[in-house]
Amino acid sequence: MRNKKEYIIITGASSGIGRSTALKAAEEGFNLILSGRNVAKLNVTTKNCKDLGVEALSVCGDITEKSNQEKIINLAKKNKNIVGVVNAAGVGRFAAPDKLTDDMMDEMFNINIKAMFIMNRELIRIKDKKNFLNIINISSDCDQVAFPDATGYCATKGGVLMMSKALGLAVRKQNVRVACISPGRVDTYFNNKRPGMRVGALMPEEVAEVIMFAINAHKNIEIQEIRIDSMSRTW
Ligand SMILES: NC(=O)c1ccc[n+]([C@@H]2O[C@H](COP(=O)([O-])OP(=O)(O)OC[C@H]3O[C@@H](n4cnc5c(N)ncnc54)[C@H](OP(=O)(O)O)[C@@H]3O)[C@@H](O)[C@H]2O)c1
Repeated sequence: MRNKKEYIIITGASSGIGRSTALKAAEEGFNLILSGRNVAKLNVTTKNCKDLGVEALSVCGDITEKSNQEKIINLAKKNKNIVGVVNAAGVGRFAAPDKLTDDMMDEMFNINIKAMFIMNRELIRIKDKKNFLNIINISSDCDQVAFPDATGYCATKGGVLMMSKALGLAVRKQNVRVACISPGRVDTYFNNKRPGMRVGALMPEEVAEVIMFAINAHKNIEIQEIRIDSMSRTW
């Protein structure tokens, strides 16, 4: 158990990678500020973390809405020792380009890019000068590998990768380390699937292990990007 009151903020904590990261961080003794949209699922993650003996606070709601972003930031302001943020909230809308609507594009860009940027920016703004902050932005193999029905999703994840790199350069002298983690397929609820449906995919617990490795790494190690996939992936 950690003796310091260190907090990690996790978006997308109601499901998949975000939920697994919350549980792993709680096992390691980190306190948590968790966010997600589905109240029942977010409550389960929050309770599971508390049962592991840490403090777990939650903000339920759409991360693209300013009021919900502010609630997370206000909690972060109160609990000053924020050592990490894991931006795992994300969606993918997949269709041939002529079927990809304006709404689908807006949804992906607003969640995957804009809300992520705002969380990054606001946490840097309120960061205590002496603290070290780990920003973990969850991207995808789609940030470098193109898929024909993923025009919009690839665009957002390519954006996550380059946004993370540019931000990392801008803030590295302020004790902020920005790491972009790009997994291949992960066995979660993503894209209306259910666990068990993505045979040979990474498990969310495995991605969580890598995320916590990045958070726990020595402060002198600049982790820019980590690309991972499953050894049993068959495509
Ligand atoms: N699964 C894959 O194959 C895969 C591969 C590479 C990268 N990724 C990336 O990994 C990240 C996590 O996805 P996952 O696989 O863990 O999928 P998931 O099980 O569907 O989880 C997605 C999470 O994002 C949250 N979320 C989505 N839109 C939101 C919004 N507007 N406001 C607040 N929360 C929102 C969801 O909340 P609710 O459920 O409460 O709505 C959920 O907690 C995403 O960025 C995804 O692009 C996934």
